[in-house]
Amino acid sequence: MKSYDEILEILKKYNQEHLVKYYDELSDEEKEELLSQIERIDFEYMNELFNANHEFDMKENKISSVPAIEKKKIDLSYYEEIGAEKIRNGELAICSMAGGQGTRLGHSGPKGTLMLDLDKPTSIFETIAIKLKDAQQKYGVLIYWYVMTSEQNDEETQKFFIQNNFFGYDKEHIIFFKQGELPLLDANGKVVLKDKANVFMAPDGNGGIFNALNNRGIIKHMKVNGIQTLAIGNVDNILIPMIDAVPLAIMEEKGIKLLSRSFMKPSPEGKWGVFCKVNGKPRVIEYTETPRELLEARNEEGELIYGDAHYGCNYFGIDLLEKIVTEKLPMHSASKKNTGLMENGELVEMQTFKYEAFIFDGYSMSDDIIVYRGEKDEEFAPIKNKEGEETAESAVALYKAFYKMK
Ligand code: UD1
Repeated sequence: MKSYDEILEILKKYNQEHLVKYYDELSDEEKEELLSQIERIDFEYMNELFNANHEFDMKENKISSVPAIEKKKIDLSYYEEIGAEKIRNGELAICSMAGGQGTRLGHSGPKGTLMLDLDKPTSIFETIAIKLKDAQQKYGVLIYWYVMTSEQNDEETQKFFIQNNFFGYDKEHIIFFKQGELPLLDANGKVVLKDKANVFMAPDGNGGIFNALNNRGIIKHMKVNGIQTLAIGNVDNILIPMIDAVPLAIMEEKGIKLLSRSFMKPSPEGKWGVFCKVNGKPRVIEYTETPRELLEARNEEGELIYGDAHYGCNYFGIDLLEKIVTEKLPMHSASKKNTGLMENGELVEMQTFKYEAFIFDGYSMSDDIIVYRGEKDEEFAPIKNKEGEETAESAVALYKAFYKMK
């Protein structure tokens, strides 16, 4: 580890000396921890992020639509049969992205630990374990379940699994791995301190998954275990159909290593990214970045041209994953209010910038994509907010309707 003087040199170079302003007041342990946190920051990169333009410019790019394969129009039993063989061979694994903080939910623990009012109190994580156990019955195989956590919630997540006895699933087939993190910046590009002893870090977005899969040995684990396809899903959708034979068969038939599930947006509104191609490459334009004209564009039949919503259920072939991990993904910035330490030692609410990679930015390494469209209410029961839309209550209602529960 670098010495205090070496770290100070770096901080001076990047005009970030405020990070050690309260160093002398800290205990030896805190001093060491703070220095190690600072040492892990790539200030050059943070400067680059701060100065970059993160806006998506529609005019500079050629945008086209992607035709979807509709679930209701294909011979499901044909694809089921082909894909089922692959699942039985252990070629499919699933991964829950559970590194994000449940701030919008108002839940203090990891999102996956939120308890739901089903026939008995059931956590979000358990809803996934239930699907894995069903699949074990159906296909006679234990499917690997990778759970992506973050520095902030890894310990609590793993503890929750232990306390709940891994929900009765085989614990050797549940593997946790942590995603990376980046510091928050203030309006002047300075790294924010959470308190005198800690840098304010946040997970690096769900696109951080690719680096994490590589750095934490998951890709290697997949290869050793003969896993060909990884279904990666948002943890906050309790109807997410990650374990499904059909996508595997369609991917094989088309020879395309990337498939993402969608549903048709009921209207141009809605907080969903939409599928398209940008300069011929598959992509999702996130709801925060989608230009109005694109949202509202309709074809001659009056259907939304960019109406297929990305809902966070993506299938990646292992070869594609290996390609993506060699690339540096673009980052997106979000401005949020957070409580950070001012130079005068006061904790105040300030405007901060958070930088995140998005999972679908990995698509650019694939020449093509299959968009597989299902019915919204059969595949999507999101829990995003404490009140209003997409709450635990609305998700539970959808879940109960789908499984015909009382
Ligand atoms: C996400 C999608 C959006 C989609 C919507 C559907 C992205 C970038 N956006 O938006 O296109 O229409 O879901 O509900 O995927 N997560 C991590 N680590 C992080 C950040 C997020 O694991 O650093 C996980 C979350 O726990 C969650 C998932 O990624 O499971 C989605 O992330 P979130 O940031 O909540 O995205 P949305 O804004 O809901």
